[in-house]
Amino acid sequence: MSRGPSTPVGVFPQTRMRRNRRWDWSRRLVRENTLTPDDLIWPVFVCEGKDLSENVPTMPGVVRYSSDRLPAAVAEAKSLGIPAVAIFPATPSAAKTPGAEESWNPNNLVCQAVRAIKDAHPDMGVMCDVALDPFNSDGHDGIVRDGHVVNDETLDALCRQALVQVEAGCDVIAPSDMMDGRIGALRSALDRNGHEQVLLMSYAAKYSSGFYGPFRDAIESAGFLKGESKDTYQMDPANSDEALREVALDIEEGADMVMVKPGMPYLDIVYRVKERFGVPTFAYNVSGEYAMLRIAADSGALDYNRVVLESLMAFKRAGCNGVLTYFAVDAARLLNDA
Ligand code: PBG
Repeated sequence: MSRGPSTPVGVFPQTRMRRNRRWDWSRRLVRENTLTPDDLIWPVFVCEGKDLSENVPTMPGVVRYSSDRLPAAVAEAKSLGIPAVAIFPATPSAAKTPGAEESWNPNNLVCQAVRAIKDAHPDMGVMCDVALDPFNSDGHDGIVRDGHVVNDETLDALCRQALVQVEAGCDVIAPSDMMDGRIGALRSALDRNGHEQVLLMSYAAKYSSGFYGPFRDAIESAGFLKGESKDTYQMDPANSDEALREVALDIEEGADMVMVKPGMPYLDIVYRVKERFGVPTFAYNVSGEYAMLRIAADSGALDYNRVVLESLMAFKRAGCNGVLTYFAVDAARLLNDA
């Protein structure tokens, strides 16, 4: 993909770069990228119970909602112009098993949440994560046998999980598990069951990252993982050509949209993916990135509103069509007020 002609050059004093920056109107005229609420997907955590909003301690300002509270929370996001939400469950410990059977229980927390949102807001886009970690007593995204996360058996579980989510009303299936062949397996399972209209957003280049720490607290999977890494399926942060191979495979297997994750430390990957493939490209501005800015702002070190909008604009500049971000509601409010 080309981004226009090569940059014209000029020499001082004929060329004064500051001329275009002098006025608000001229800055607006030469602005190369825009950020609007249309660019935002809001990840929401759901917990068991009634009439609950629990704070996530490592993500100040982020809460887990019981599903009866979701319609009101989503109503606010919708009124601000946010097109879609992504649901993540804090499954009760007692429901977690080595086979992660709860992931395909048609009445699990995710399905309850999808139904609650879709009943109230049928025109809101709803995404569901596909991976076993919220349901797995080993804390891994796949099924563990003899100490190894097994690939092909996990694919069957992922397909069953996706089907209950879609039957509950989910619009976008977003596999985050990094098993090989999952996009192809999910596409054919969905199509075989009459769900050829359901979108697939692949977490195509997902790195094994320390920036997921607060998320694992939010869904209470950290304790189950017992300090183990996800290095045998998530990508090595040292690699970037490999990300292009992952994305190429997922597009070939039928992904409608691809995602890079984490976000801010991986904008070089976003840029390469968008340049190479020109497909709808997203990034996940993950929990640790949220915590860094939020906690720094709470301590007085940063201007929250400013750094939130600046970092989301950086995703657009790198080539993202949109961003999954815990800042979505705050950012949309700021954008609407601007
Ligand atoms: C799980 C999943 C993770 C995130 C989204 N889906 C964590 C992980 O892979 O351990 C991370 C999101 C975040 O940190 O905000 N498959």
